[in-house]
Amino acid sequence: MGFSRLSRSVAGARVLVTGAASGMGKATAQLFADEGARVFATDWDAEPLVAVTQEIQDLYGKDRANCRASNVADQADRVNLVAAAVDFMGGIDILINNAGISRITSVHSDDETFVANWDQSLAVNVSAHAHLIRLVLPHLLLAPHGGRVVNVASTEAIVATRGIAAYTASKHAVIGLTKSFAVELGRSNITVNAICPGPILTGMTAGIAEESKEKYARRKVPLGRYGDPEEVAQMTLNVCLPASSFLNGASIVVDGGMSINHG
Ligand code: NAI
Repeated sequence: MGFSRLSRSVAGARVLVTGAASGMGKATAQLFADEGARVFATDWDAEPLVAVTQEIQDLYGKDRANCRASNVADQADRVNLVAAAVDFMGGIDILINNAGISRITSVHSDDETFVANWDQSLAVNVSAHAHLIRLVLPHLLLAPHGGRVVNVASTEAIVATRGIAAYTASKHAVIGLTKSFAVELGRSNITVNAICPGPILTGMTAGIAEESKEKYARRKVPLGRYGDPEEVAQMTLNVCLPASSFLNGASIVVDGGMSINHG
């Protein structure tokens, strides 16, 4: 049987992934499906969400994935989402709070832009995480291997890039939320951790010109490139393994060494 006693399998686990229509959320849903989990996906972009779900169903069967379009910043949507996920999977063992937006919020932005973008960024990037964790909690408490929450933050939770104050503030807040709920939920055998991705090739960065991305990566990232969404999804999966049972309240940086690079 070997020496270890902790499982490195999420087969059969019931996973709720937000922002699953694109980028890292999509890669995460696909990876968990590859590993034998059952996936309930959500996103407010319905068409690609259904396509991602369909692909998983085609490969693994209809009982392995389902979805519901929802705005994670809306409480009624969140309540209906959790009900639909539980209806499909019979419970939720793992919550991946991944949906996020990046909006310009410079100290010099005009008032209307700043106020609107600030409120929306905080609502999607951090408030939604907190409210969803609370809604999913009764189900996480029943998870056979202990509940798992992964909050997707960013290297913007550690350092700051000019012009996106709301994004940076929201991601710093995700770390605080992660620590606070980790402390509160540990006794219930639920772990809460954060992932801090660096620059990743997703919908969020698709608008940046190829040449600028290459230049940025060469200058900033020791690995000299942007990351692939699966490279982050693999770390998210690791955090959710039964074997990661003593990891709690951590913020794991997945950035090719960008944030520790001092030249
Ligand atoms: P993406 O834009 O490819 O995917 C984000 C998904 O979230 C989209 O499908 C979008 O429709 C969905 N979404 C946004 N607001 C929503 C809402 N209110 N309700 C439901 N769905 C919503 O971007 P990416 O990069 O995959 O983003 C995933 C997470 O990773 C985000 O939290 C982002 O802040 C974070 N991140 C991204 C980095 C990057 O370089 N791409 C770096 C660090 C963190």
